[in-house]
Amino acid sequence: MNHRPADQAIRDRVHRDFDTTLLLEAGAGTGKTTVLVGRILALVSTGRATLDRIVAITFSEKAAGELKLRLREEIEDALAASTDEAERERLLAASTDLERAPVSTIHAFAASLLRERPFEAGLDPGFSVAAEIAGERTLEDAWEAWFDARMAEADPVLVRALTLGLKIEDLRKAARRMAADRDVLGPPAPRPAFALNSLRDRLREVVTTFGPYKPRCTETEDDAYGEILRLEATLARADRADGLALERLLRELYVVAHKGKQTNWKPKEACNAVKAELKALKDAQEAYVQASNADLAWALRDDLRGFLDAYERAKSEHAVVDYTDLLLRARDVLVRSIPVRRYFQRRFDFILVDEFQEPTPSRPRSPSSWRRTPRPRPPPTGARSASARASSSWSATPSRASTASAAPTSRSTTR
Ligand SMILES: Nc1ncnc2c1ncn2[C@@H]1O[C@H](COP(=O)(O)OP(=O)(O)OP(=O)(O)O)[C@@H](O)[C@H]1O
Ligand SMILES: [Mg+2]
Repeated sequence: MNHRPADQAIRDRVHRDFDTTLLLEAGAGTGKTTVLVGRILALVSTGRATLDRIVAITFSEKAAGELKLRLREEIEDALAASTDEAERERLLAASTDLERAPVSTIHAFAASLLRERPFEAGLDPGFSVAAEIAGERTLEDAWEAWFDARMAEADPVLVRALTLGLKIEDLRKAARRMAADRDVLGPPAPRPAFALNSLRDRLREVVTTFGPYKPRCTETEDDAYGEILRLEATLARADRADGLALERLLRELYVVAHKGKQTNWKPKEACNAVKAELKALKDAQEAYVQASNADLAWALRDDLRGFLDAYERAKSEHAVVDYTDLLLRARDVLVRSIPVRRYFQRRFDFILVDEFQEPTPSRPRSPSSWRRTPRPRPPPTGARSASARASSSWSATPSRASTASAAPTSRSTTR
């Protein structure tokens, strides 16, 4: 029995409509890669583009190999079925071109762009992409050297982090994470205010409020009464502390708000009033810890930029780039250099992306953003706007894997 998917019209359009940027959103196993392969085959067999001018981006090296394999099968099937001489020639050329075709991961594609135009990207033409182990070593060495040097000078942010309970390993992890995600770091921004003394002021208010309540307790063993005495002692210690010692003391303050017996108080409502104050203080303490954490995270982020600089210097000394550099450098050279952008626009006719996820500034939301440029030439008559976007939900599954295709050169227009 022949099954015709309900969205067959959309699938057909992918194989026919080459002048529109298409974004397909569909669940796992619904045929995204199949239509992408079909689109490439259609482009090649109709003569709309040759394989060397079609970029296909996959999520992993393995997927790139599989995509080439699927393409090879499709090309061979099409060759076996075709009787049109011109089409056969195009398919034969594609079969020869296939191994060299730009079908790769985004990182490999970015590396190939940079190899073609290293100077414009500010790179040593002999740059090497740090293999995992060598890259790790550069990163780790840069971290050790930077951390030791900063600690020798008692870097206040690092000292604060360690005093407030973070471990050296936590800092190392944060630094590594920042290095890996530096494409989304953004520029330094002013830090929101953090009132270091605020909780001590609040504690003083609460302790003052407790004054008239204390004589109403008839049992000094009462837990709420004991909590009042403990907070009075804490306030006295807080008054003798400042800076980091104060912040630590206030962060570690633990308020017990639910204990205390009404029968130990006269009138018994006094007990409830004390507990309500204790609860309010407990909430204020928790909010204080959150504000302190946020401030520390902010301070660390600024401080660790110093490590990122050290890491950049280490890479530049060894003429290596890491995986994040590939994306950042390729993005930057395409954004900043109009000649480079035009060069690649002339070089490639179509970009197809099989599965893009978690868009970030250097991992573009869709291939259409690659085309943001003044056009070098007007589009040929009849070309439809590539910025028109067709999108289709193929299934109601929660999966958000996507396949996209863009026509990046002057064959299609841009915004
Ligand atoms: N129109 C179709 N009719 C029937 N089967 C199809 C159709 N399109 C694709 N398939 C089959 O469905 C399976 C999954 O296809 P494909 O790999 O293209 O899906 P996908 O959406 O890319 O999957 P994934 O989410 O795993 O990447 C394959 O076996 C393929 O041959
Ligand atoms: Mg797929």
